[in-house]
Amino acid sequence: MENVIESTHPLIQHKISILRDKHTGTNEFRRLVDEIGMLMAYEALKDLPTHMVEIETPIETCMSPMLSGRKLAVVPILRAGLGMSSGILTLVPSAKVGHIGMYRDEETHEPHAYFCKLPESISERLILVTDPMLATGGSAVEAIDFIKKRGGKNIKFMSLIAAPEGIKRLHEAHPDVQIYVGHIDRELNKDAYICPGLGDAGDRIFGTK
Ligand code: PRP
Ligand code: URA
Repeated sequence: MENVIESTHPLIQHKISILRDKHTGTNEFRRLVDEIGMLMAYEALKDLPTHMVEIETPIETCMSPMLSGRKLAVVPILRAGLGMSSGILTLVPSAKVGHIGMYRDEETHEPHAYFCKLPESISERLILVTDPMLATGGSAVEAIDFIKKRGGKNIKFMSLIAAPEGIKRLHEAHPDVQIYVGHIDRELNKDAYICPGLGDAGDRIFGTK
């Protein structure tokens, strides 16, 4: 599917396997989500704009590329998306950070927004929305609706594990958005959890129940 990029990198697949293991504790889980976020961002940000600057090396002067301005906004969907953002900020410390608070109703599985704060000049930025789980796709679609209503145009979405149902819904609602996923799993169960998945990402990152 155009605009859906599934990772095949063995490092990412290896780390996702450890995340899936129910015996992996909070500490290791959090560290791995951070690391996978960084590895995936490396790929997703390959078209960040650059411009040439003059640099004096110890040998001679040359023209060499640098990132252009402060053009990236990382927007985690709270809570679990936060776990992926720190790795990305290690790669691009100058990025601005927005937050979208969203939780899924346990019965209807529909998303409810409770917070939205985006960096200024959002229409001029590349916006990387993060959430480890793309299940029904409801949260991602609504978060991106929010961002577009506030002027966001150049948007990418990044998740660790996705269900085919979520990818379809997000792609149909926002075909312009590139979707980067660590792995596409089999299906959703009746509670709209991803199978085999990794359970509740927010609870596993923050050690809640
Ligand atoms: C989880 C996950 C996504 C959402 C995915 O969040 O982090 O945001 O569910 O499901 P969807 O694709 O069906 O919308 P949750 O609502 O559990 O909130 P939390 O991050 O605060 O735990
Ligand atoms: N949210 C999660 O954290 N996990 C799932 O499998 C689905 C939604």
